[in-house]
Order: sequence, then structure tokens, then C-alpha cells
Amino acid sequence: MSADLVNYKLLLWVGKMTLIIAAMAVLGNGQKSIPTTLEGPFKPVTRRFDPSLRRGSDDLGMDHPRLRRTVSGYFPEQIALALSAPTSMWVSWVTGGAQIGTHVTALDPSSVASEVWYGKESGKYTNKQTGMSMVYSQLYPYEGLLNYTSGIIHHVRLEGLEPGTKYYYKCGDGSILALSEEHTFETLPLPGPNVYPRRIAVIGDLGLTHNSTTTIDHVTQNDPSLILMVGDLSYANQYRTNGGKGASCFSCAFPDAPIRETYQPRWDGWGRFMEPLISRVPMMVIEGNHEIEPQAAGVTFKSYLARFAVPSEESGSGSHFYYSFDAGGAQYAWLMKDLEKVDRSVTPWLVAAWHPPWYNSYSSHYQEFECMRQQMETLLNQHRVDIVFSGHVHAYERMNRVYNYMLNPCAPVYITVGDGGNIEQVDVDHADDPGKCPSPGDNMPEFGGVCHLNFSSGPAKGKFCWDWQPEWSAFRESSFGHGILEVINSTYALWTWHRNQDIFKDNVKGDQIYIVQQPEFCSRATRDGSRSLDPKQSDGTGSDSLAPLIALFVTVSLAISLLHGLGI
Ligand SMILES: [Fe+2]
Repeated sequence: MSADLVNYKLLLWVGKMTLIIAAMAVLGNGQKSIPTTLEGPFKPVTRRFDPSLRRGSDDLGMDHPRLRRTVSGYFPEQIALALSAPTSMWVSWVTGGAQIGTHVTALDPSSVASEVWYGKESGKYTNKQTGMSMVYSQLYPYEGLLNYTSGIIHHVRLEGLEPGTKYYYKCGDGSILALSEEHTFETLPLPGPNVYPRRIAVIGDLGLTHNSTTTIDHVTQNDPSLILMVGDLSYANQYRTNGGKGASCFSCAFPDAPIRETYQPRWDGWGRFMEPLISRVPMMVIEGNHEIEPQAAGVTFKSYLARFAVPSEESGSGSHFYYSFDAGGAQYAWLMKDLEKVDRSVTPWLVAAWHPPWYNSYSSHYQEFECMRQQMETLLNQHRVDIVFSGHVHAYERMNRVYNYMLNPCAPVYITVGDGGNIEQVDVDHADDPGKCPSPGDNMPEFGGVCHLNFSSGPAKGKFCWDWQPEWSAFRESSFGHGILEVINSTYALWTWHRNQDIFKDNVKGDQIYIVQQPEFCSRATRDGSRSLDPKQSDGTGSDSLAPLIALFVTVSLAISLLHGLGI
């Protein structure tokens, strides 16, 4: 038995003691106790798709009540919140009508003001903040395709807010009596020891289907205080420019088109669909591949960049494509310099999120972003990132703690929640199912290179896929749903995955686990450079290219933004 294994067993023993205390403190009501990661690694479990459910559903039509425009002129719509800093909040909305046609004329953003009136009492708006506005156009200079230009998109940053406080607000232009109805939001607590956000909803690959409505209704029922949207939002790029019916697969819709088309009014529908929730709960977004939306001359991400306010300036990133923010005592980090400056005594939880998963045992997108994993994983482990959320794969999967494809008690917990309900349907095939191991050419990334690898050790040695569910995959299920993260204290966080079909059931959880940190043990392991955290001695994939260099980190992790910046 290796020294590492002995350490891990000791850790488990201590962990079980801790579990008992936690179970008494947190449950205490006779419920079945919730497992903790201290009991892991868990034997892999698969729950296959329930054939009595629908694997997918059509998109909601633009005339659906949740998508239809219900205001006119310069009255605000698509109102949304995003966190800026602990004491500031972005308010965004759209005024004026979007246009679509062969010839479109962009609206003048200066023709209407960007104002937010707000205060701590209903109807008493003691403060007014102004902001900026813009329009964007999605232009297709090709025979037979239509162009789009947006309504006026407003972004106002409210500053100097009190933490943990409820605010009432209206937005719009007071000078022309075009203000919205009153909305409310509650600021998050100020970051500090033992102060945490209440409930964080994590949603991936949502789309705008009948399944998406169930997901959002379920999220609303679960009363989040913050929403983390891990990419692939509206699926407007499953349409041709003339609207029509959405296509249920990414690659089959445009076989002969000169460019991948989009139908931008879907974005406006998505903004209306989300408004009831995100006009009172801040939503943080990450770009996915469905947000690329190429135009002529290499223009990309126009809609994503125009519509969503993110704290890029506040976090010093200078880019909409990566940023970090504090949410109570949990930090959501996308930058290495942010990783370095995090004081874990103040911010004990470090949560990272990006769209494509590194660990994924489904056939879909299998090893697709292996380059990114190889170049960034060491950095994340060195900075003891606790949890990594991703989407992209349209199903649920929670990993055992894993580093470089080897079980490791100090590695992050990777969770895939690309199961928001989009038009492309649930993924049901596993790479370890007979005949379902994809060929290396099946899952090519849109950016970041190809680094597919055969395993060099373990049960899958010499193979691209395992013959059974890999040991690093703790639980996977093909179903639509969403997750809720609740930070309990500096070492315990409760993760719950909710299936859509359980929306009307009490106390039914698709998956639930306490994610438990071992800061002292893992700090010591990092400091000592023990085998469990040393990439040079880790041989899960046989890769020699683990290179924690700043340049490589930037190149790979920010591939989307670099491609965008280079006009590629
Ligand atoms: Fe995706």
C-alpha cells in the first residue's frame, strides 16, 4: 500500500467523523444522510435515460406568451441583472424594436436615456444612476439571407450599494415617461469569513424549448440568490436568418450555406423568457460555442458581447470572455492572477466555470477540449480550486475528485450540467458503451486545438475509451435539470442536482452530496510537492505536455477571445 493510499484512508476516517457531525447539524430531521466527498472515491453509477420521457422538444415559437414583445416604443423590456462587485450591480434592458430584413437601419442609441431609479423602499427612488447604451447588427451579405439590427441595449452600473440589502428599482427614460414597472433585487453579502451566498443555481445549455421552461420554472421554485449560466444560451444559431423552425442538431442545419446562419430575434425572445427571473436575481454568463455566431470578415460573438454586462473591468480582465467576481466567501475565478491573489482565509471557496468539460464519459464531446485540460489543470490544482462547473454535454455527470485522470483526494470536483433543455436533446450514449467510443475525428473543438490521447495506464491502458464507466466518473444520468450550490461553511458546501421531471415532487433529488474541503491536508500536500499533486509523476494519460506556463495558460484558456481579437 503506498503512502498516498494510507494518507487517503486516514483522511477518509477523519472525514467520516466529520460527516456525522455535519449530518446532525444540517439534517437532524430523520432524512437519509447525504454523502460527502470524504467518503469517495465512489463506485461509478450510471442512471440511463428514462424512455418514458421525451429526449427533447421543439423550441417555443416567437408568438409564445413568454417570448412575445409586450411593450412598444421606448418602454424597457428584457430587463436583467448581473453582479458587478459586492457593492454594485449591473442593470441591463432593451428599448425600441429590433429589425430584420434585407435592408435594416440601426437605431440611434442616444435617442433614449439609460436611467435606473432605485432605493430601499418601494416607490421611493432616492437614487438615480445613468449608464451607456449600444446597438449591434448581425449582417449576412449573402444572396437570400436577411440582416438584423437590435433594439437599443442599455447597461447601467449601480454603485455604492449596501451588502445584504433589498433594493427597489425602475429602469428606462424618465424624461419621456418610459420607465419600467418596479422590480426588486437583494445584494449579496460582503465577502468575509463565514459569509456566503445563499443559493447559487448552475444552468448549462438552456436553449428556449418546452424543456427549458421546466428548467427555469424549477430554478425559480428553488429560489436562488445568484445564477451561473455556463454557456450556450439561446440557440439562435439553430435557425436560418428567415426564422422558421429550429434545427435539432448543430451540424445538420446548414449543409450548403455560405456561413452559419442565426435568427437574432431568438435572442430577444430569450431575454423576455428570462426576465421574470433575472430582473430580480443576478445572472452571470459564460460564452459557449453557440454564442460564436460568425458574420462576414471574421466578426463573432456580437450578440453575446452586446447583451450581457459582465465584471470584466471590475476584475481587471479587460475582456468580456473571462472575469472573476466575489460572491460572499466564494470566488468565481477565470484568471490566473485572480487565483494568485485569493486569500483563502477570507475566500475559502474557489469555484471555476467554463463551457466544455474536461472530464466527460459521454460519447458526445468526449476529450474534445483535452488541450485545454492538459495546459491548465496543473494551475487549478496548485491553487486548490474546489469545484469546476461546465456544460456543453447535454446530460449530468459528477466526477470523483480527479487530477490528470487519476483519483486524487485534493483535486477539484468536476460537475457537468449541460442539461438545461435545449433543442439538441439529451445525450444518452456513453463512450464506454459497446460501439459508442467516438473516433478521434468525431469531436473536434471549434478552438484550442486537438490533443486526443489514449490512456497510458490503468484499466483503459492503450485505449481511447474505457470499457466500463471510468473510475473518475462518480455518477452520470441522462436527464434535463439544473443544480443548486449552497455553501454551508468554510469547508462544507451542499450540491444538489434537480431533474426536470421531479419538479412537482417533494424531497426528490437527482443527486446530492456535500463537497468537503481538506485545507490543511491539501495545503501540506501542495507545499510538500507530494506525488498526489505533482504533475511530473502523474501518469494518467501519458502526456508530456503538462506545461504550467503563463503563456500557454493564456493561449489556451482564452482561445475564444484570442481568436476573436485576431479576427479569426
Ligand atoms: Fe456547447
